[in-house]
Amino acid sequence: MPSSGSSSSAVATRAAGPGFVRRFVSEATVFLLTNLAVYYSVKYLAGLVDPARKKRLAARAKSDKIFERLGRDKVELTEYEAIVAGEVVHPDDIDVSFKDIGGLEPIVDSLRETVIYPLCYPELFEATSGLLSAPKGVLLYGPPGCGKTMLARALAKESGATFMNLHISTLTDKFFGESQRLVNAVFSLAQKLQPTLVFIDEIDAFLRERKSMDHEATSMMKSEFMSLWDGLSSAPRLVIVGASNRPEDIDAAFLRRMPKRFPVALPAADQRRKILQLLLAKVELDPTFDLDALVQRTHGYSGSDLKELCRNAAMRTLRERLRQLKPDVPNFIPGPMRARPLRNADFVPGESTVVDDVHALQLD
Ligand SMILES: Nc1ncnc2c1ncn2[C@@H]1O[C@H](COP(=O)(O)OP(=O)(O)OP(=O)(O)O)[C@@H](O)[C@H]1O
Ligand SMILES: [Mg+2]
Repeated sequence: MPSSGSSSSAVATRAAGPGFVRRFVSEATVFLLTNLAVYYSVKYLAGLVDPARKKRLAARAKSDKIFERLGRDKVELTEYEAIVAGEVVHPDDIDVSFKDIGGLEPIVDSLRETVIYPLCYPELFEATSGLLSAPKGVLLYGPPGCGKTMLARALAKESGATFMNLHISTLTDKFFGESQRLVNAVFSLAQKLQPTLVFIDEIDAFLRERKSMDHEATSMMKSEFMSLWDGLSSAPRLVIVGASNRPEDIDAAFLRRMPKRFPVALPAADQRRKILQLLLAKVELDPTFDLDALVQRTHGYSGSDLKELCRNAAMRTLRERLRQLKPDVPNFIPGPMRARPLRNADFVPGESTVVDDVHALQLD
């Protein structure tokens, strides 16, 4: 009976009239709002218990600042890229340039030619169908204190490239399994910020020969690093620079990815002369000072040893001057406070450290 059917549907429609719709809408709204509140509360609480949260927030703030200072448009970073962005150093914050490095001119020239120009002017090198593009990896190796780290920092400063000073602890200081994502982030961020120079100091510690007893996470991270490194041909404006004083410990597969290798050896006599000239450029020297004699006497010294020698010599004259002050007349300074000019005899090999100097002062 159609009439009874239509009347029952009419009854149903009346029952589901405006009142029902209103109730449905309000209940659906409450349901939605409750779910949203639960979602955000859980997210907030999870954020509070997440130990990496603070670090992440700090990294994000730092990366925002870096983008601003680099004069680049802010790019949306992933959570992992934001962590890695904490390793980006602004060129203005690098305090060494090539002119502060003594005796390494051939290496500096070669780095300019093989890294800086292809990195910064890729169009000049494109015509050679990639034959002359920047090497994917550069290795600076040699004994401690000879200027490897200094060279890499100066390279970043002079190239104007984004400098990523990658600490391996950044990649490993995370929960198991996250290292791979962080390694990925290194490469993706480097590409977003290109031209980029990724510097890994003491690279032997990270890319040492893979052993069967390596932690699974470590070996996975290394493999990931290697495959991403291989994919660099599509990003010609990115170069990885490693420094090591134990190149023999580096895995052969990784070494192959650093085809440009520069030995930074102990300085020879003419190099020591240049380093000493730089170190003593602003120091007052006695007319009797004989640079050549000092150069001959410092055979086997590294750049860092020479710096220490000069610092100790300056400290020696300063100490002499301080001893002349009369302790019983506070603030009494006889004449302008200047230490005497340096003489060869002030450069004493194996001179004590500052701590010992203070000790000597107290004993006298
Ligand atoms: N060629 C150089 N010219 C001027 N200063 C130098 C030179 N080599 C080394 N130095 C001085 O020695 C310090 C240490 O150098 P640097 O840290 O670059 O050595 P390194 O080769 O990286 O050593 P390590 O292998 O121990 O890391 C520098 O800060 C600088 O003061
Ligand atoms: Mg170093």
